[in-house]
Amino acid sequence: MSVTPLDHFTGIDTLTSEQFWGLLKLARELKDELTECGRNSPILAGKSLAMLFEKPSLRTRVSFEMGMQHLGGYAFYLSPAEVGLGTRESPADVIRVLGGYVDGVMARVFAHRHIEEMVEWGSVPIINGLSDFSHPCQALADVFTIWEQLGSVEDRTLVYVGDGANNVATSLLMAAGKVGLNVRVVAPQGYIPSGDVLDAAEAEVEVTDDLDGVRGADVLYTDVWVSMGDEEEREERMAVLPPYQINSELVQRSENEEVLVMHCLPAHRGEEISDAVADGDRSRVFPQAHNRLHAQKAVLAHLLGGVGLPS
Ligand code: CP
Ligand code: NVA
Repeated sequence: MSVTPLDHFTGIDTLTSEQFWGLLKLARELKDELTECGRNSPILAGKSLAMLFEKPSLRTRVSFEMGMQHLGGYAFYLSPAEVGLGTRESPADVIRVLGGYVDGVMARVFAHRHIEEMVEWGSVPIINGLSDFSHPCQALADVFTIWEQLGSVEDRTLVYVGDGANNVATSLLMAAGKVGLNVRVVAPQGYIPSGDVLDAAEAEVEVTDDLDGVRGADVLYTDVWVSMGDEEEREERMAVLPPYQINSELVQRSENEEVLVMHCLPAHRGEEISDAVADGDRSRVFPQAHNRLHAQKAVLAHLLGGVGLPS
């Protein structure tokens, strides 16, 4: 039975479990197919991707640009100053213009509603490259990494430590629900997932402010305490989040010598993660970052190249 194709990739909650697994399997195929010269089959020959950024990026920008190149297509970067999404021009107008030039748009925005507005008005696939609400490309690559590293995801336990209400945590919870990954969020009051997110996640999620919640983790995951756009909250966040640093003591507290440590990067070393852990033998932060390339190629091959999702 074929998997229903996607029109956009804007949030994990909009996918079925079959579609999510289809993207993971396609990512596996494309990663295996990649030659040492950085080439896949030219599925996207003649196709173009506009990459619209309202915030800084290293991984998202470079992995999308290289992903398009590996697949024979072309990508170009649009800076915040050039486009002025929602200030110089409305998202509805921007996407209707871009749709006449390119085959797809990847956007990193402050306001998630701007992604939704582009979906509403656009005629080409939209990919959410991070918003204030979610980061689905990251979650896809993260589950791909766990699958690759552990050989399975179902009934594994990921413990997210720190700001459990941010975009990365939100997408991870939703992704967990698609693959049967158990999640525990270890976070202080005020930084836990909202009821709406927990409902949408359809995952087994435990929430606690007790650091003993890391016990039995297969994966310890963290992200920055102050996300892009939240800078004015830095002081109040730094008043409560420091006990939730992933350091050697917390890794030991997991009581799993083989626990994996993940972080979407960029890391604020010395805040949410210590140098010793980020650079230690349990860390998988760099394979995780590299898998952004492979996971997103699956999204691109499917949305822009019409490649079917494996069942
Ligand atoms: N993890 C991630 O999205 O990194 P960038 O902000 O560098 O793209
Ligand atoms: N939560 C972080 C993720 C960066 C990739 C932020 O939004 O800044």
